[in-house]
Amino acid sequence: MSVGPTGVRAVVEAFGETPLDAVERQLRLEAQAPPDPAELGASDVIVAVQSAQVGWVDLLMASGQYQHMAAPPYTPGLEYAGEVVWSGPAAAARWPVGARVIADGLMTGPRSLGPYQRWGGFASYAVAPAAALRSLPDGWSYDQGACLLGSYETAYHCLVARGGVTAGETVLIHGASGATGLAAVHIAKRLGATVIATGRSTEKLLAVRDNGADHVIRTASDADGELTPFRAEVKALTGGRGVDVVYDGVGGPISVESLRCVRFGARYLIVGWAATPLVAKGAGGRGAPNANVLPTNLIMMKGLDVLGCPTAISTHLDPSIRAARLAAIDGWISAGLAPHVGAVYDLADLKRALRDKWKSRFVGGGVVRPPARG
Ligand SMILES: NC(=O)c1ccc[n+]([C@@H]2O[C@H](COP(=O)([O-])OP(=O)(O)OC[C@H]3O[C@@H](n4cnc5c(N)ncnc54)[C@H](OP(=O)(O)O)[C@@H]3O)[C@@H](O)[C@H]2O)c1
Repeated sequence: MSVGPTGVRAVVEAFGETPLDAVERQLRLEAQAPPDPAELGASDVIVAVQSAQVGWVDLLMASGQYQHMAAPPYTPGLEYAGEVVWSGPAAAARWPVGARVIADGLMTGPRSLGPYQRWGGFASYAVAPAAALRSLPDGWSYDQGACLLGSYETAYHCLVARGGVTAGETVLIHGASGATGLAAVHIAKRLGATVIATGRSTEKLLAVRDNGADHVIRTASDADGELTPFRAEVKALTGGRGVDVVYDGVGGPISVESLRCVRFGARYLIVGWAATPLVAKGAGGRGAPNANVLPTNLIMMKGLDVLGCPTAISTHLDPSIRAARLAAIDGWISAGLAPHVGAVYDLADLKRALRDKWKSRFVGGGVVRPPARG
C-alpha cells in the first residue's frame, strides 16, 4: 500500500564545523519514498508535512554544537505540521486520515530521545508516534502550527516557570524580533507585564511593537564594535528604577549592559546567546571554550537571581512541568494568541532559509513548505 507519491527530504550527512558550514557542505536534498506502513508499528502515524519551522536549534545541531544531537545521517526539522495520510490500528481512532496535526518536537524528530529522531520535518513525509501529535488549532495555517510549541513553550518556561513574571512588572526582552523573543513578547503581555523590547533594526522593532511591545530600544555598536550603553533609556522608561526581569536570548555585551538596567533583586533569565552562538567546539567536539561570562560583582551587589532556562532539558528531566504550560498556551490560543510567521520558503530553498535564520533576516518564525503532493 502506498500512502502517496515520491517526495523530497533533507539529510544532514555529518556535523559541520559551524552551522553555515553544515548548511553548505553537509546538508542535501534527496528523493524520499513514502514510508511503508508494513514497516511501522500499531501506534505509528505517517504525516504528509505541509510546513516546518526553520529553527535555530536545527542550525546548532547540524554543527554538533547543541547539547543534544541526532546521529547523522538524519533529517532535520524539529517542528512541523501536516496532514495524516496513514495511521496504525492503535492510532487510527485518534488520528484518522486527513487529520491536521502538529508534531511535538520533544517527543518525535531530531530533538526527541528515542527511535523517531531521524524523522525530521524538512521532508515530504515524517513518521511519528500517535502520542507525539496534537491537533492544529481551528482556523490556523500549517505555517502557524509549525511555529507554536518550541517558541511558546520556551517563552512560558522562561517567563512563568523560571521567572515568575506577574502583572504590573516590567520585562526587558532581548532578541525580541526572533522566534522565541516574539513569543516572549506575546506571553509577557498576556501576563500583564510591561514590555521593553530591544533589537538592532528599526524596521523589525516596528513589527515587534505591532506585536505588543510597549517600548522598543534600538541597540547599536560604535566603529570599534563596542555596544552603545542603553541603561539610561531603560532607566528613563522605568522611572529610574530598572526592570524587574530580563529575558536574554542574545548574550554577549548585551548581557553585561543589562545587569545595569535592573532594579535591586531582579530576575535575570538566561534563554540563549544568539549573538555569540559558537560557544561549543564545532563538529560535535563538545566542551565550551567560548562561553559567555557574567560579572559576579554586579550580580552580588544588585542581589540578582540569575536563572538558567533550558526548556527541553528541564522537560526531559521532569515531564510533569509540561501539563500546566500546555494548558496555559491552549487557553491563550482560545483567546486569540497566534504565532507570527515572518518568512515562507519552498523546501527546495532550505539552504537559503537556514542562512536567513542565522542572519536574523525575518521577524518571528520562518518556515519551509515541501512541494505539493501529486
Ligand atoms: N532556553 C531555551 O529553552 C531555548 C529554546 C529555544 C531557543 N533558545 C535560544 O534562544 C536564542 C534565540 O533563538 P530564536 O529561535 O528566537 O532565534 P532568532 O529567531 O534568530 O532570534 C534571535 C534574535 O536575536 C537577535 N540577534 C541575533 N544576533 C544578534 C547579535 N549578533 N547581536 C544582537 N542581537 C542579535 C536578533 O534580533 P535583531 O536582529 O532584531 O537584533 C534575532 O531576531 C538562541 O540562542 C537559541 O539557542 C533557547
